[in-house]
Amino acid sequence: MKKSILISLLALLMMGCQVSGGSSLKVEETTVEMRKNPEGVAVSAPRFSWQLVTDKQDVMQTAYQIEVADSEKGLQAGSGLVWNSGRVESGQSVLVKYAGASLESGQKYWWRVTVWTNTGDKAQSSIQYWSMALLDSSDWKAGWIGLNDSTNLKLDGERTILPARYLRKEFDLPSQPKRAVLYVSGVGSSVCYMNGERIGNDVFGPLPTWYDASVSYLTYDVTPLLKSGTNTIGVALGNGRYLSMRANGMVGFGLPRLMAQLNIEYDNGETVSVASDDSWKVTNCGPITANNEFDGEWYDARLELGKWAESGYDDSGWKPAERMEAPKGKLVAQLSPSLKVMEEIKPISVKSVGDGRYIVDMGQNMVGIQQVKLRGKKDKPITMRFAEVLKDNGTELYLDNLRSALVTDIYTPAADGEFVWEPLFVYHGFRFMEISGLDYEPAADDFIGKVVYDEMATNGTFETSEELINRIHKNAYWGIRGNYRGMPTDCPQRDERLGWLGDRTTGAYGESFIFGNALMYKKWLVDIEESMNENGSISVVSPRYWTIFHDDVTWPAAYFYVADMLYRQFGDDSSIKERYPSMKRWVNHMTETKMKDYILVKDEYGDWCMPPESPELIHSEDPARKTNGEVLSTTVFYSILQLMEKFAQMNGLPADAEEYAALAIKVKDAYNKKFFNTETAQYDNNTVTANLLSLRLGLVPDGYEDKVFANVVEKTEKDCKGHVSAGVLGIQHLMRGLTEYGGLELAYKIVTNDTYPSWGYMIKKGATTIWELWNGDTANPAMNSRNHVMLLGDLLIWFYEDLAGIKMLPLPSGSSRF
Ligand code: BGC
Repeated sequence: MKKSILISLLALLMMGCQVSGGSSLKVEETTVEMRKNPEGVAVSAPRFSWQLVTDKQDVMQTAYQIEVADSEKGLQAGSGLVWNSGRVESGQSVLVKYAGASLESGQKYWWRVTVWTNTGDKAQSSIQYWSMALLDSSDWKAGWIGLNDSTNLKLDGERTILPARYLRKEFDLPSQPKRAVLYVSGVGSSVCYMNGERIGNDVFGPLPTWYDASVSYLTYDVTPLLKSGTNTIGVALGNGRYLSMRANGMVGFGLPRLMAQLNIEYDNGETVSVASDDSWKVTNCGPITANNEFDGEWYDARLELGKWAESGYDDSGWKPAERMEAPKGKLVAQLSPSLKVMEEIKPISVKSVGDGRYIVDMGQNMVGIQQVKLRGKKDKPITMRFAEVLKDNGTELYLDNLRSALVTDIYTPAADGEFVWEPLFVYHGFRFMEISGLDYEPAADDFIGKVVYDEMATNGTFETSEELINRIHKNAYWGIRGNYRGMPTDCPQRDERLGWLGDRTTGAYGESFIFGNALMYKKWLVDIEESMNENGSISVVSPRYWTIFHDDVTWPAAYFYVADMLYRQFGDDSSIKERYPSMKRWVNHMTETKMKDYILVKDEYGDWCMPPESPELIHSEDPARKTNGEVLSTTVFYSILQLMEKFAQMNGLPADAEEYAALAIKVKDAYNKKFFNTETAQYDNNTVTANLLSLRLGLVPDGYEDKVFANVVEKTEKDCKGHVSAGVLGIQHLMRGLTEYGGLELAYKIVTNDTYPSWGYMIKKGATTIWELWNGDTANPAMNSRNHVMLLGDLLIWFYEDLAGIKMLPLPSGSSRF
């Protein structure tokens, strides 16, 4: 490397093997199914993980013992244990499976782990707990309720406009309960209150799913919020993804609805439930008159309901709640944590830009909620609009790239004076907010940008002596977290915001070095499976709010790659086990319908978003630059067969494994016959992507690797002057490919370029996230999101594995090339 870079700080706390700090051995980071003290665990044999912390070097766990009881006292006394693993001689500290008496629905359990080490130390964790979800349908007494009235569902073109629903129920308790647990599913999006206090801090809960297959409920221990006497539960219900944001072209499931059940236990063992039914009251005449994730929230303070979530409220003007049809999907405990406010930032400036408009600059393209503290005038609406960039004049929002999304929040004051407000059911992807309707200039202090995404740990930080690299990493960090919305979305701002598979195939792996994203991705794999059709096709958008069955290979590949990532990076093989039958169905379907002479003939998107020949184009029209679709699908299919061979072995299915291995050989042979030129060592039309995919995915015949690689280098150096020529497919292998075959210098040049096309170019043009297009500043606005993560490719993997040298040991079942 011409310029040596120094990695000055890198913290990576992944999986359960961290050993650091502290003066004596401690057992920390205890989790059940990868969550700390979780409520509502739905697996019959939950898995425990922990970490050892010590100031000594070379400490290894040699044995562990797990004890579980159904009371805290029982655990302390060591009596009435439902499981005592006994001392197990093992170094395993990640995902150790429960193997005791069968666990009861809704029951709370306490546990602790004791460990022994090679240094002769012993330590015990503090007592932890978890609660089981409702495991049987007979546990549910609640019904689905809401307001079955679509007369106030309005359309503005395709845009849906529906006011929020508010539901309430008062109930009496003879005394303070011992334990009270609320199981609640308010779809699309809901916020619950007990006696006026917000329950938990989830945002937009429950997570969106393919509601025809499953609907998630949340579990909250609300014991401290209850009291003897009258209590009140209140739920504000928004549309989320249940009522579609668009009337056509996007799948919706109907009006929002709620199912809630509060299970109460008293000291004397008596139990009672408060369940949603038609004794609840409902209104849609509250302050949130519209809530649409694309278009924004309208809040009319003149319609505020007062203390509606508290006891004694006069709800005589409200209607009895109506029974709603149950969603088609089964009710399941939410698998992954909800979104939360994960950080708060302040604007860097507020500027007056004429016509009574002010532009608030957050200094960062962020995703979440803007809280405002403003002074308004009675009946005079204050309008807030959001954008990622400003027009060249610097005084207007650039909204062309948001397509039909209106991204407009409107607050109408009920009286003159100050108010503090933030939307409850919508979020925006923005750096700039334009505000109008004020009669004074607001201050930067009047705004708080609340960064919202799925709750997960930030495990990796990365800093080098090369400022540009640090900046790229920072942009990636902001872009990745901004695109987690219970699923990995393509973008957070325009009228799309969907779980596009192809964007994350390799990305999920890179992201896992920064974020503890295992549960979010595990949940997404369920969405993908639930979005499949009967013949085995995978929808390239999952959950399939846009239902798209192309039967291509490169986007569905994410299903396989992400399952593999969860195993390698987090030690979690559950997706490989549970999803295997549907994976097999897809492979069969593809071989039967899209494979001709062992070539996968169907491709849809090509090497999506590669740098085009002229700046205004979104996609290249030049055949010399484009990579043949059969090359893309066949190479990627070959890699999927390799994964399936490994997955089959892990599932104890050697015959399947053999079959995949045999098919892979045939695919490789056919591919090389059709596309490899042994004279020139070029694949097809010699694009970097064609050669690189063939090389990295293992299709190049023995002995030709260096020659194929030489073509990659020559093309990149001569034709592209040391720049990327790849789109979403090629970029997944570029940095690792160059590094593995001796092109580290070139990899380094590519990452430090600031001329087009490069990540550095985006930064030179003011990007604080990663763009959808290499030419995002000049391309047609129909598709130029400033916050997509797909063009990161394998860059983050390269940062952590190749620059920092933090890499998983190859697993016995094979290391990853993917
Ligand atoms: C999305 C992409 C996606 C692509 C596939 C776009 O509109 O934003 O990220 O992968 O479509 O065609």
